[in-house]
Amino acid sequence: MPDDKDKPNQQLDEEHTRRQSFLKLGLGSLAVAGVGAAVFGYEFLSPNVLYEPSPIMNAGKPDQYPRGSVTADPKNGIYIIHGPEGFYALSAVCTHLGCLTQWAPEQGLIACPCHGSKFNPEGTKVDGPAPRPLAWLRMWISDEGDLMVDRSTAVPVKQFLRT
Ligand code: FES
Repeated sequence: MPDDKDKPNQQLDEEHTRRQSFLKLGLGSLAVAGVGAAVFGYEFLSPNVLYEPSPIMNAGKPDQYPRGSVTADPKNGIYIIHGPEGFYALSAVCTHLGCLTQWAPEQGLIACPCHGSKFNPEGTKVDGPAPRPLAWLRMWISDEGDLMVDRSTAVPVKQFLRT
């Protein structure tokens, strides 16, 4: 049986403990809100940038492309062609609506599977709705002797690279 003299002290202790609990709860809520605000603030302030691969690609050594060959590189969306007058790179992206074309060796043509455009190995349209020839892309030899292609830079037609 508790002593009556102790009751006020006991009530004081309970009130003190309750106050401490509310204080801890409040500080905990503030900490959670602060972390949430920091996360949203970081996401809001960080730039919304799409990181794309470089348009410049290394196509390897020239001797891996025999004269007269058309080599499709669908991963990079280009053709490396070693014609009688030298090397050149063509974009494999159809100028109609942007489908990826395919080399059809049995026809000796580059064909678009979407609406039937066809191009000769120099990129000139020979059939279909494509409004323009396939783009010729800048090509050069690196210091290490590799063929380099800049997929973002078109060059005039018949700008061959002679090695
Ligand atoms: S996208 Fe190639 S013919 Fe239409």
